[in-house]
Amino acid sequence: MSGKSLRWGIIGAGLIAHKLADAVNINPDSTLVAVASKSAERAQTFAEQYGIESTADYAALVSRPDIDVIYIATTHNFHYENALLALQHKKHLLIEKPFTVNAAQAQELIELAARNSCFMMEAIWVRFLPSMIRLKQILKSGIIGDIKLFNISFGGIAQAQYLPRLTDPQLAGGVTLDMGIYPITFVNFLLDDMPTASKSFCRFASTGVDELATYQLQYASGCIASINTSFNLLTRMEAMIYGSLGYVEFPHFQQGDTFTVHIHNGTRTVERSDTITEENHGNGFIYQVAEVARQIRAGKLESDIIPLRETLATMQLMDNLRAEWGFRYPFE
Ligand SMILES: NC(=O)c1ccc[n+]([C@@H]2O[C@H](COP(=O)([O-])OP(=O)(O)OC[C@H]3O[C@@H](n4cnc5c(N)ncnc54)[C@H](OP(=O)(O)O)[C@@H]3O)[C@@H](O)[C@H]2O)c1
Repeated sequence: MSGKSLRWGIIGAGLIAHKLADAVNINPDSTLVAVASKSAERAQTFAEQYGIESTADYAALVSRPDIDVIYIATTHNFHYENALLALQHKKHLLIEKPFTVNAAQAQELIELAARNSCFMMEAIWVRFLPSMIRLKQILKSGIIGDIKLFNISFGGIAQAQYLPRLTDPQLAGGVTLDMGIYPITFVNFLLDDMPTASKSFCRFASTGVDELATYQLQYASGCIASINTSFNLLTRMEAMIYGSLGYVEFPHFQQGDTFTVHIHNGTRTVERSDTITEENHGNGFIYQVAEVARQIRAGKLESDIIPLRETLATMQLMDNLRAEWGFRYPFE
């Protein structure tokens, strides 16, 4: 790594890669160097937009000595093989969510990253938003008492551009790996814990992937989370967090900047409601880019905010949910 700036390469010149490219360009400690795509034309078009280099060969990108960290922005099914390639070339990694398709793949990557002294992090970008950090502080302060229940809806009708990867089993489509992971990791983050038990149901799309799912999660503290999510159903987009002394109402919780804390102090009457707004930057990826730069510069191999043991546990949980429905991807 050069003394001045963390040098980034991107694998996969698709939709989300642009947001990360813009965020890297905003970060004062980072420089975008090159992009790789299976399509030379796609790579070139992307590269021209950012004034960087391009290649149609992923191996050529990860073997460049002037790149420190690779962002993997391909569809879920490719994350494992792309990460393996980059780790074999001892590159640090930021991997789009979901980290892999299943826990077995995640475990292998985690072991290789440790052996090769590579930093690695799953891109759960929302966790670094100022609103999330503030919410966690408020819950930890105990102002709403013991947290007993989360009730989260996270559904919408996906835009056409996202449908191929959401619906295709070969691309590891399905709502759980793509959207369910957000409310699940939201609850785990706020409770600093993983569920000890789960029960779930799903409804399959005609392509065979889960398009609507509901999960009931239970935690050691006794807290219960009830989550529903879909890419094909317009539902509310909100998280409700109920404690013994009050509750939090968080519309658009997944990336929102405003939530309201209602205090009833154990009575039937809400005595006070405070609405809190944090300034989330228009490109919310800047916070995770800053975290990657900070941790790599500090010589760390993982982020304390999204530790690899949590990423692995999340993949295991999603394996378990899919197992409840007898749902495996064709390539598993
Ligand atoms: N953090 C977030 O808010 C967020 C939002 C959206 C997506 N994501 C994640 O980012 C990843 C990419 O999502 P996206 O919406 O950017 O996907 P996308 O544009 O549909 O595809 C991204 C890349 O994946 C490869 N790809 C796509 N379809 C393929 C196919 N049918 N066959 C072979 N390769 C294919 C291509 O890589 P090449 O260019 O190399 O050929 C493409 O450029 C996903 O894992 C998703 O979960 C995260």
